[in-house]
Formats: sequence, structure tokens, C-alpha cells
Amino acid sequence: MEQIVVSGGRHLHGAVSISGSKNGTLPLLAAAMLVEGETVLENVPQIEDVHTMLQMLEALGVHTRFIGPGVLKIDASDLRSIEAPYDLVRRMRASFYVAGPLLARTGRAEVPLPGGCLIGNRPVDLHVQGFKTLGAIVSEDSGVMRAYCQRLRGARVYLDPRYRSLGATINIMLAAVLADGTTVIESASREPEVVSCAQFLRRCGADISGIGGSTITIHGVDRLQGCRFRSIPDRMETGTFMYAAAVAGGSVLLEDTLPEHMVMVTEALTHSGVQVDCGDNYLRVSRDRRPLAADIATAPYPGFPTDLQPCHCVMASVAEGKSIIEEAIFDARYNYTDELNRMGANIRVAGNMAVVVGVPRLSAAPVEATDIRAGAALVLAALAAEGRTHISGAEFLDRGYERLTDKLRGLGAEISRRSVEGKEALCWV
Ligand code: UD1
Repeated sequence: MEQIVVSGGRHLHGAVSISGSKNGTLPLLAAAMLVEGETVLENVPQIEDVHTMLQMLEALGVHTRFIGPGVLKIDASDLRSIEAPYDLVRRMRASFYVAGPLLARTGRAEVPLPGGCLIGNRPVDLHVQGFKTLGAIVSEDSGVMRAYCQRLRGARVYLDPRYRSLGATINIMLAAVLADGTTVIESASREPEVVSCAQFLRRCGADISGIGGSTITIHGVDRLQGCRFRSIPDRMETGTFMYAAAVAGGSVLLEDTLPEHMVMVTEALTHSGVQVDCGDNYLRVSRDRRPLAADIATAPYPGFPTDLQPCHCVMASVAEGKSIIEEAIFDARYNYTDELNRMGANIRVAGNMAVVVGVPRLSAAPVEATDIRAGAALVLAALAAEGRTHISGAEFLDRGYERLTDKLRGLGAEISRRSVEGKEALCWV
């Protein structure tokens, strides 16, 4: 087990390069299973969730190999198993993405149902309903979804317009590209990760239109051929570094990113008096005075991303005035606020709302990360806190952030990692 140790109070200065997107790359890895041949992906981040997905692919008979930094070759010609191992699905919900490609290519899929999650109720009923609508016979038994079909048939699939589920949109799109006939996905997710997955599939020969909108139309094709494709920059990492600059103060240049994906975050920061300048593929975030309070409400893209709600809450915790936060996507996404309050924040949570009264400064405390984005929020809080903060649960950050501590150290933060014996770790639980 490892802890992250941060001595707060240092401003951040310099440049940081944004890595390839976690949530963008995971669907591409699943999509590559549809290709009977080789695919090359670039800008693949070296993070735990990617490694878990690669283990999943290998377990199904797909060969994967890094052939350069961030360049991954995938060969799915020998796809043979239809059983996804429980141990991998348990570690990462996105491994359920293999269900759609398995059904499309082999007509069968046996994938354990992912369980609950610390950020809230996260069922996969919309994915399953979508497979059924495309003609699969699906049963759920002993925690495993078993699905089969001769060949999936195109159909009209209605997703829940409240959520515009990213995961369900991707899984159904992956199932539909090789189906017989036309599939229309209504209330589809418009997230950039869906767009990039559809662009990849199109480059492989899929016939998809309406991407980036809420109705996606897919005309099934008989086969896909491999291509070379670059993963988009990680907008959650981008947002995390934007908020890091806002919380710690200073001026940070974020390179290799896409400002067009960050419109709502830029707006929230600007509203707080943080300066954000952007070019085609960079952002500069500067803050010299205490940030001002700003309200946000999370929403499906292009709304404010739920994954950056915890980072915004940290900024609100040290801002001048009272901010109201509304979480509309996940029902238990405030689990990190108790830890922030232990660092001196003043956050009251009622249902899906949080009222945050800014305090002049936070103070160090031993805290524990319970999910990826909660972990990022605690690191940001520690950057702004007086004293040395020990954050347990560093492994959560490794799931989604590539070299986070190195990158922050490169900007002048005093941050390091240390191993903790099991016994000592229990002290923080
Ligand atoms: C993805 C992202 C996650 C992000 C989330 C919302 C990945 C690997 N993860 O998660 O970081 O926070 O999008 O932008 O890309 N829902 C159902 N039934 C379903 C599917 C979803 O009720 O079958 C509900 C969920 O409970 C949630 C909402 O829909 O309340 C949104 O979930 P969804 O967009 O599917 O999120 P994920 O794809 O799991």
C-alpha cells in the first residue's frame, strides 16, 4: 500500500503535458476486439485501468503489445473465449465494455455483472436492455450476464434521457456495428469519449452517423479492418490540473489537451476569478487572488462533468463566499467531503446538494481516498493546506492518473509517495 505525502502552500508554475484519456482509451480497447486483425492505438496512458483492460483482452485471446511509448498494437484475430473473468470486472466496471464486442463477433458473451460502487448505484440495465433490443437472448444468473444470438439485428434503442449513459451508448454502439440492419440509439451520450470511439470505428469501416448528437445511427457492416488511431487527451486530468492551479495559485500551462472539451470547467473557473487562456491544444490557468465562490450543477456532456465535481468542491472550500453544488449523475458522490471537513473545510451535504462555505485555509490531516476522483480532490486540498497531509489509497489515483505525483512535482509541488506497511495503513481507515 502506498501513501501520497504533500506539504502544502506552494504555488504551481511551469508546464505539464496531458496524457491520453482513460475513459477514451478503455472503449477503444474494447472496440479493437471487433477487428479481425491488427489495430494500433497511440497516446495510450500507462495507468492501472488500462492494464486491467489489457489483462481482460488477453484473457479473451486478444494479443496486445506496446511497440513504443504509449503505442499499443492489438491483434484480435484469435478472439476465442467468451467468458470475462470476474476478478477483472470486479476491479473495473468499464471491463463490462467487452460484452458488446463479444456478442457482435461471436454471438455469445458471459460477463459478470459489475457490483455497486462507492460513488453510487451504477447498474448496467441499459446496456442489457440494449442487447435485448438488438435481438440477444439475455439471462442473469449467479451474478453473470449470459447473452447469445445468431447475429444481432439492428433496432431502435431508447436510453434514459436523464442520464444519457456513456457506458450504455458505447456498449450498444459496439454491439451494433456488425449487426444486420440499422440501429438508432436515442438519447445517446454526447461525451467526447463516445465521439472518439465512433470515429475509431468509422476509420475501421463502420457506418455510423450522428456522432456528437443525441441520436446515433449505425448501419451494420460485415467486418471491420484495423487502423491506426490516437486517443484523445484526458479531459478529467486536464480539469484536475486546471483546478490544481486554481487551488494552489500560480500559473500553469497545460499542453497537449483540447480546450473545446473544457468549456463548462473554464466557465466555472472564470466565474471564480481564475484566469484561463486557451489556444488550439493548450490552456494556461493563472490565479493570484483568492478564488470567489461559484455554484455548479453536474450534467451529462456538454454539462459540467461529475468527475470534476470533487475538484470544484475543493476550490469552493477555499473560496471567498458560499457555493452550492448539485450532483445530478451519481447518488453517493460526496463521500470525500468528510475528509475535506477534517482538513478544516465547511461543507454540508443534504441529498444531492452540497453547501460549501469557503474558509481562508485548510490544514493538513491524515485522509483516505476512496475512489479516483475523490483521491484527486484530496491531493488538491493538500496542495492548498497548511502542513503535511498523508493521503492513503494512492492506488485509486494510479487507476486513472499517469504519473500524477511526478507531474505535480514538476510544477513545484512538494509531493512524494511512500510505502506503508499493512498495519500502519489500518490506522488511517
Ligand atoms: C462513465 C465514466 C465515469 C463518469 C460517467 C459519467 C468511464 C469508464 N467512466 O461512467 O468516469 O463519471 O461516465 O460521465 O468512462 N445508469 C443506469 N443504468 C445503466 C447505465 C447507467 O441507470 O445501465 C445511470 C448510472 O447509475 C448513472 C448515470 O446513468 O447515474 C450515468 O452513468 P454512465 O454515463 O453510464 O456512467 P459510466 O459509463 O458508468
